[in-house]
Amino acid sequence: MAAAPQTAPSLRVLFSPAEYEAMNAKDLLGVTCVVFDVLRATSTMLEALGNGATGILPAREIAEALALRTRHPQALLAGERDGLRIRAHLTGGVDFDLGNSPREFTRDRVEGHEIIMTTTNGTRALEACRKAEFVHIASFGNLTALAQHLLSARAASVCLVCAGTLENASFEDTLGAGALVDRLIKESGGRPPWPLDDSAQIAWDLYRSHQHRLSEAAQSARNGRRLLAQPELAGDVPVCFQEDRNPHVARLGADQVIRKIA
Ligand code: MLT
Repeated sequence: MAAAPQTAPSLRVLFSPAEYEAMNAKDLLGVTCVVFDVLRATSTMLEALGNGATGILPAREIAEALALRTRHPQALLAGERDGLRIRAHLTGGVDFDLGNSPREFTRDRVEGHEIIMTTTNGTRALEACRKAEFVHIASFGNLTALAQHLLSARAASVCLVCAGTLENASFEDTLGAGALVDRLIKESGGRPPWPLDDSAQIAWDLYRSHQHRLSEAAQSARNGRRLLAQPELAGDVPVCFQEDRNPHVARLGADQVIRKIA
């Protein structure tokens, strides 16, 4: 039997880098992608936009980020490798202005600035979605606003892309995707607005079994345990799990800049 075309109406979830990198070979016409990197890239991007950053320029590699800086000399450089701010020894001499902690992206620091950002998995997942009709960023911070936008935009098909941890699926991104499935269904009066793929059902079930103890769920995530074990990063975890903290809709434009659209 022939494989169903990507544009068959569906709500699905891609759990790992192997799945989202395979999207390059597919026709994504009519597909809206939503990228989750709950800990921490998309949570941090939403915090930056919420605090007045004018746009996020995602870059997969450090060298690409540095090249973007030469074309956008006023932009701030942000991102991490191994969870920590990128320092001169990784760049040939340039210290990045910011790391990947949402708590660094205060209004004082980011208002009015463009931010060039490279992270291990978050910006990698964004790059994999570039052929999609629309690409949004998501986290617990913008679930309701994004669900309402997706429903009003009436995409043919919606694909929730979990950035994952290194080459693996991650608990927190799957949980975030499941939370968005839950919001979409609730905002549609209890009926799935698109046929649920098994992957969306799995993520939704995971969210429903943890929704009343989300902060404990961070302990089930490899990334959550890594951050919680470092005193200077532990405070990021509750920020990234706070629901509707940054109730904005943000989308990657044709110029490859992520901006707030609502
Ligand atoms: C990533 O993009 O892989 C993450 O955001 C890593 C991190 O927590 O810094």
